[in-house]
Amino acid sequence: MVKKVTVVGAGNVGATAAQRLAEKELCDVVLVDIIEGVPQGKSLDLAQAAPIEKHDAHIQGVNSYEASANSDIVIITAGIPRKPGMSRDDLLATNRKIVKNVVQQVVHYSPQTILIIVSNPLDAMCHVALEASGFPKNRVIGMAGVLDAARLRAFIAAELNVSVENISALVLGGHGDTMVPLPRFSTVAGVPITELMTAERIEALVTRTRNGGAEIVGLLKTGSAYYAPASAAVEMAEAILKDKKKILPCAAYLTGEYGLDGLFVGVPVKLGKNGIEQIISLPLKDEEKQALLKSAAAVRELVLAMQNMG
Ligand SMILES: NC(=O)c1ccc[n+]([C@@H]2O[C@H](COP(=O)([O-])OP(=O)(O)OC[C@H]3O[C@@H](n4cnc5c(N)ncnc54)[C@H](O)[C@@H]3O)[C@@H](O)[C@H]2O)c1
Repeated sequence: MVKKVTVVGAGNVGATAAQRLAEKELCDVVLVDIIEGVPQGKSLDLAQAAPIEKHDAHIQGVNSYEASANSDIVIITAGIPRKPGMSRDDLLATNRKIVKNVVQQVVHYSPQTILIIVSNPLDAMCHVALEASGFPKNRVIGMAGVLDAARLRAFIAAELNVSVENISALVLGGHGDTMVPLPRFSTVAGVPITELMTAERIEALVTRTRNGGAEIVGLLKTGSAYYAPASAAVEMAEAILKDKKKILPCAAYLTGEYGLDGLFVGVPVKLGKNGIEQIISLPLKDEEKQALLKSAAAVRELVLAMQNMG
């Protein structure tokens, strides 16, 4: 049977994710937005590219949730993005209401679906989605680590003048300034970058990764990055749709792993048809563990601030 993925938010990230899902012919796509005409117009445009791009995925744009019924996955990108000078956390008050409302409607029509959250501030929005859905923790997954790691991979590839395909990288922690890129677990054809670059160069790439989102916001002036974020969300969706058992860094609800409890934090997880099928525990060195705990503390602070908003 053809799979169905609903993408909520037909803006930059959502529409690009819909395009990538269709062009990879992974599923039929339902694109939802509150703005009348936008999801319909973008879907029609994408459908008209299909003969040239050679796929038969059906794409439907709507302003309500009936057509999303029984989706295998729902990717949530609804909300406002950052403007120059804003942190992801500045989006909290607006996006928590949007994400709560969206999740309630999604869940009504797709009680068995798997949620991939993209809206920022990412880790806090995962908490909103977990609570509003009442889903088990394996079915609420945040997209951040795949994107942050892809940024680091792109920078390593450019620095060493090798194919991006040779690079793997790992970034843990919250999706913010305290994210934890792990050079020791970042490799070029299997060789850790710590063997290939000076500590100074590694630090420069790590810093650029931490500021990767802000660098693009500063250049675009309006809106934030969307090509790589859409690719990252679609890689996660593909792993689930194809039951690949693929290990990717994602925001997952931890219940004791890494010494953290009751919090969404970016860690390596195994993605398959049940969503998060395993949380991978890495043997972290002291300073890496400290950095992860610091990042988790920043997430917890934000979640508490959100809870105090009532
Ligand atoms: N997790 C990540 O790594 C990551 C990366 C990039 C962007 N983001 C976040 O993703 C979100 C979307 O970014 P974008 O660039 O696509 O923004 P965008 O403004 O282009 O699109 C957002 C869309 O959401 C829609 N929307 C708003 N309220 C809605 C509702 N209640 N129901 C349905 N749709 C609604 C808007 O109409 C708009 O079309 C932002 O919060 C951004 O910060 C996260």
